[in-house]
Amino acid sequence: MSSTTDPEALRRAANRFGTPLYVTDLAQLAAAAAEVRVAFPDPWLRHYSVKANDVPAIVAAVAGHGFGANVVSRGEWAAATRAGLPNDRITLEGIGKTEADLRAAAAAVRDGRPLRWVALESPEEAAALAAIVRSVAGPSGTLDVLYRLNPDVAPETLPGLAVGTGGSKFGMNETELAAAIEAGGGPDGPLRPRGIHLHVGSQLGAIDAWRDAVRRALAITALWRGGIATFDTLDVGGGFSVFAAGKPAPGPARFAGELPALLDGTPTDRRPGRLAIEPGRFLVARAGWLVAAVLHARDRGGRQVVLDAGMTELIRPALYGAHHAVVALTSLGRPCAGVPAGRLRSASAAKAPTRVEGPICESTDSLGIHDLPPLRRGDLVAIADAGAYGASQSSAYNGRPRPAQVLLDAGGRLRLGRRRGSIAAVTRQ
Ligand SMILES: Cc1ncc(COP(=O)(O)O)c(C=O)c1O
Repeated sequence: MSSTTDPEALRRAANRFGTPLYVTDLAQLAAAAAEVRVAFPDPWLRHYSVKANDVPAIVAAVAGHGFGANVVSRGEWAAATRAGLPNDRITLEGIGKTEADLRAAAAAVRDGRPLRWVALESPEEAAALAAIVRSVAGPSGTLDVLYRLNPDVAPETLPGLAVGTGGSKFGMNETELAAAIEAGGGPDGPLRPRGIHLHVGSQLGAIDAWRDAVRRALAITALWRGGIATFDTLDVGGGFSVFAAGKPAPGPARFAGELPALLDGTPTDRRPGRLAIEPGRFLVARAGWLVAAVLHARDRGGRQVVLDAGMTELIRPALYGAHHAVVALTSLGRPCAGVPAGRLRSASAAKAPTRVEGPICESTDSLGIHDLPPLRRGDLVAIADAGAYGASQSSAYNGRPRPAQVLLDAGGRLRLGRRRGSIAAVTRQ
């Protein structure tokens, strides 16, 4: 991805919509989507994992680049629908599906507009969904399902993101998977077995665990495909990483490049007829900036600033030590002079290591140390790579309304994607 975001546009956005503010650069989003699409072209099924950023305008922007949606709840499903996606381009997965979520999936079958598939997490969930589909959609109603496999690998990522380990709460082992197929009524039941769902982890720093997991999933798919003709799908999940500039990480093409050899290891008549991916972070992280204003600038044996954005808007640093670059948009009230430096031109003058803190009453609310020019109250900074798992994981802790979300188009125009929350919403009973 080579596009850069114009700092002037971020300053304009902050002046017009206030801070803290999420800004999504649609040109960067388009570049990321193109990179994934080139690596996984049709007939790959591409679903955007809405949990990364559930603002409907952003889901719609991703959909416009050839992606369906992968959702984990009726809330995310509603966001995908609002983004204009029909049910047959939406998949439902997730370990937290409620009875109401399952009922909604069954009602969509009854109404003749079923989801593309539902990915199941346990035999109990399969039994519950089968019963609900029977009662809501009648004896002829069928719903396509995948079975989430726990691949029991050692993903090369932060422990908090390594969901594919054997002890994790996600997915089933082979015995549970067989029981889930049975619990759904087998090949002729209300749940039509379509294949395997996999997600190894997020921010994958290498491909080895992913390769092992896909190899296992292909072997299991081949086994079931022998007995159940509809068992034809392998969804390899998401996980493509977005690291700070300069840190090498495998891109989507590197993962895609593994597939031919993996498929070669499977008999031709046992290979999945449909392959799918469901990335989230890679599509939206780089495009997103969290623009904040400085509340306090102090000397604490070194520079320290406190911003008006922190863990309530971007919890990743506090949650699992994620690093996000911070760049100055203004210094002592003046726009920072631009020098090309990565994806945002940043200030050149008098930079010094500065501890950047958030405004929340928790000492873990910190963005770490960054080289920044002199700052004072009211100066603007931009936090990089904040487009994924920022807005969607935001909270109203400390009584803080949710920030607005603005979209920046290629012509430099700004459009409101989600309006700022209100005190009324924070206090609503
Ligand atoms: C099942 C599943 N699929 C896809 C994703 C998206 O992952 P990423 O944003 O790393 O691409 C996740 C993230 O947690 C997930 O749990």
